[in-house]
Amino acid sequence: MSLVLGIESSCDETAVALVESDRTIRAQRIASQDDQHAPYGGVVPEIAARAHAERLAPMIEAVLDDAGASLADCDAIAATAGPGLIGGVMVGLVSAKALAMASDRPLLAINHLEGHALSPRLTDASLGFPYLLLLVSGGHCQILLVEGVGEYRRLATTIDDALGEAYDKTAKILGLGFPGGPAVERIARQGDPSAVPLPRPLLKSPEPHFSFAGLKSAVLRAHDSGQYDAADIAASFQQAAVDCLLDRLARAVQQCPDTPSLVLAGGVAANLVVRSALETFAANHGMAFCAPPLALCTDNAAMIAWAGCERLELGQNDPLDFVARPRWPLDPDAEPARGAGVKA
Ligand code: KG4
Ligand code: ZN
Repeated sequence: MSLVLGIESSCDETAVALVESDRTIRAQRIASQDDQHAPYGGVVPEIAARAHAERLAPMIEAVLDDAGASLADCDAIAATAGPGLIGGVMVGLVSAKALAMASDRPLLAINHLEGHALSPRLTDASLGFPYLLLLVSGGHCQILLVEGVGEYRRLATTIDDALGEAYDKTAKILGLGFPGGPAVERIARQGDPSAVPLPRPLLKSPEPHFSFAGLKSAVLRAHDSGQYDAADIAASFQQAAVDCLLDRLARAVQQCPDTPSLVLAGGVAANLVVRSALETFAANHGMAFCAPPLALCTDNAAMIAWAGCERLELGQNDPLDFVARPRWPLDPDAEPARGAGVKA
């Protein structure tokens, strides 16, 4: 059995965790920077990098303390090495390199998206490969066929905004503050999902790609019209987004029939409406459904340590001169989506 220290610093959460390869989370801490970014209505990269630099070292000490462990007890050091805001990624990766060097343990440079992709296996030992993964976060919206650790086939991506980004922008339009996803979900409970006619971009298109920019613009027009209340707009936005997810997933299932499980991961996986829609979809398609517990959907270090455990078991590690990557697709061979902007 091995013990892996994980570090996450790719966006606005500073996080450290100690995870055993038997799936025990020995300790974990997360510090959000919401209050520092809220005045700007979004994450400011320079502020994020500074906050990571200030918080990381004491947090590593605290997590080791919480677990009653020392650096010498760790079998490897794992850190997010991309994709993400490069200043923050570098803070985490450089710290991991220093710890790996000081303790003479291997370094695992983890793709943040791989952390999300494998996170459901941390809490569900029965989830085997292959599985169809809907990865929905602030920066990504993808459908992937996960065939093994390091084996990811991207079936779909967004040609413009990620779904979490669309949630955040909707929240901003509705004056709900930052971060927006949970706030939109909260007020949508009081709204009527059929009150506002909103588009379902790319619905029924032959490729399973996503687009949310047009939906966001329609939300802005609905808000500016003054005809609808915020709860109705939020509920209608959420319904339109879910309709798009289910339509695109149906297309992906056609492409990969007989995949036994459907998995939901990434920050938007914390949304209960999205979770229950996917659970029903999976049941209707004869698939098992799996999503991490809510606390492991949004960015955390347990998923990074766990991806480290999975790779360590396979005998993998990375050189100490591994360079942080602002962009790092899980499937580098995927064809660019037609009409895609730079984010895809
Ligand atoms: O995975 P994550 O923590 O960070 C990235 O890797 O991007 O995802 C953050 C995103 C944000 O856009 C946030 O608004 C969204 O996930 N999110 C939610 C909910 N909780 C977080 N979106 C909808 N409903 C939620 N409950
Ligand atoms: Zn993430």
